[in-house]
Amino acid sequence: MLDLGRSWSWLPLTLGVLLVSKPSACTDLAGSRPNFLLLMADDLGIGDTGCYGNDTVRTPNIDQLAKDGVMLTQHISASSVCTPSRAAFLTGRYPIRSGMVSSSGYPVLQWAGASGGIPINETTFAKILQSKGYATGLIGKWHLGLNCDSANDHCHHPLNHGFDHFYGMPFSMMGDCIQWEISEKRAALENKLILYGQIVVFAALTLTVGKLTHLVSISWAPVIWSTAAAFLIFLTSYSLGVLIVYADCFLMRNHTITEQPMHFQRTTPLFLKEVALFLQRNKHRPFLLFVSFLHVHTPLITTKNFRGKSLRGRYGDNIEEMDWMVGKILDTLDREGLTKSTLTYFTSDNGGSLESQFGNNQYGGWNGIYKGGKGMGGWEGGIRVPGIFRWPGELPASHVIDEPTSLMDIYPTLVHLGGGQLPQDRVTDGQDLLPLLRGTARHSAHVFLMHYCDNVLHAARWHQRERGTVWKVHYMSPVFHPEGAGACYGRGACPCSGDKVTVHDPPLLFDLSRDPSEAHPLTPDTEPSFQDVLNRVKQAVEEHRSTLSPAPLQLDAGNVWQPWLQPCCGPFPLCWCDREDVQQ
Ligand SMILES: *[C@@H]1O[C@H](CO)[C@@H](O)[C@H](O)[C@H]1NC(C)=O
Ligand SMILES: *[C@@H]1O[C@H](CO)[C@@H](O)[C@H](O)[C@H]1NC(C)=O
Repeated sequence: MLDLGRSWSWLPLTLGVLLVSKPSACTDLAGSRPNFLLLMADDLGIGDTGCYGNDTVRTPNIDQLAKDGVMLTQHISASSVCTPSRAAFLTGRYPIRSGMVSSSGYPVLQWAGASGGIPINETTFAKILQSKGYATGLIGKWHLGLNCDSANDHCHHPLNHGFDHFYGMPFSMMGDCIQWEISEKRAALENKLILYGQIVVFAALTLTVGKLTHLVSISWAPVIWSTAAAFLIFLTSYSLGVLIVYADCFLMRNHTITEQPMHFQRTTPLFLKEVALFLQRNKHRPFLLFVSFLHVHTPLITTKNFRGKSLRGRYGDNIEEMDWMVGKILDTLDREGLTKSTLTYFTSDNGGSLESQFGNNQYGGWNGIYKGGKGMGGWEGGIRVPGIFRWPGELPASHVIDEPTSLMDIYPTLVHLGGGQLPQDRVTDGQDLLPLLRGTARHSAHVFLMHYCDNVLHAARWHQRERGTVWKVHYMSPVFHPEGAGACYGRGACPCSGDKVTVHDPPLLFDLSRDPSEAHPLTPDTEPSFQDVLNRVKQAVEEHRSTLSPAPLQLDAGNVWQPWLQPCCGPFPLCWCDREDVQQ
């Protein structure tokens, strides 16, 4: 037996260690390292909020955030569509570096049961902060992949990328999530299936007639099988709407599917509750909470309280509900006494979708004075998004900055503030924003920014500081629909290459500082430095290209539905359940 009685000498030593180490650990954790609350809207246009100039949609909570903090007016996403833009946001790198782009014309992940996703050797800022002792949570949309080889390997899951808590949609809100809404994906699939169905019906009829007239000598088996196949194909095409809802529109808590399909009227309160619980649980340690809204993507899941309340129809209702959610989240932060110790950020993954207009109804965002929108490569409307930072006492209030900045800048900014180090074995494209936000630097560290559409460089921006000019060069741009001024109606998103884009030779040149709407291309006659600017930007593009190393493109082969990857809460194909505790 161990005799502790005679060796009390261990006590003062242990107490000493506790007393010395405990407080230093506390200061280390609570000291100057802020918490991070990141709020990201889905497809919100820069012209959709009051603080960016909207006068009809009411967004008092987002406006207040801007009043209490710094508002960026030239905040640029690395892509005009969500999957690549979000990959760049989380990795601080152009999505072409991680392979989170397509060359096949499907710009975002199409299925929850596809194999593409953010590669495991990419290091998200969540992963670095997690290793530095932060509690890390993601609530809301992911859309960066799920499985690689089987239906539950979860290789691309948020918990594999630095988040220790996840509640939300591993996939994305899509038109298909409500059966009776318009959906490009469903329509294309239905057309394909109906075509196959017709071919098989034709084959079945030919065989039947041949058999009955004794023109072909076969048994009844092929006749019966081809008839059954035709029947099955038509049945699938007619029930496709329902099947997609089950396949893609479900919620998970960590590794468990909680609702398949999800119940939209419940999602908003469930998300808010989850946010409150996360903040309560982690208020005594540094945390990173990424709230990735399903708003304001179609099909616009607005709860009863907000339906029919805005002056801008169903889309306006959805924005106003999201703004209310922002307010609720900031209230919770306040109630837990966390406002001052938290750097809060608000943005959108890309600009508003101009194609989401059906008849006179607006279902997609408004990009203000900027040309183009979601899915249009380099045009400003698809990539210039809201960017608001609030950190009371540390950042100035009511401060507006026009310098070019990127959503990729969040990466180094958070990593530095969290006491981490940038990965040394790869290129990071983001720049630490803190000096600019604090006002200790006059200029953003970005001189050039590249604007990709899929894996194709469409445009580039040059901030020529000594002249105070921001130049934009377009090498390619989408061909717009002949009647739809400035959009690709009827095609979902604009294509990035092929015969549906115009290659500009010489490239189009705009001076964004004088012509932010990209309305007046410059010529050697109107702009004496025309050729010099093109040369300088071309050189920068070449330098950028020389830093790229090929990575497997995740949105090509990995972008098709594979039955063995389909996440299911029962044994496939029994993909339905409701495990959400509704008694609140
Ligand atoms: C405000 O936003 C709504 C909804 O996107 C849009 O229809 C409207 O044109 C915007 N108004 C202004 C002044 O930007
Ligand atoms: C990750 O692995 C792929 C090969 O699968 C490689 O092409 C890429 O460069 C790697 N990325 C990093 C950051 O190491």
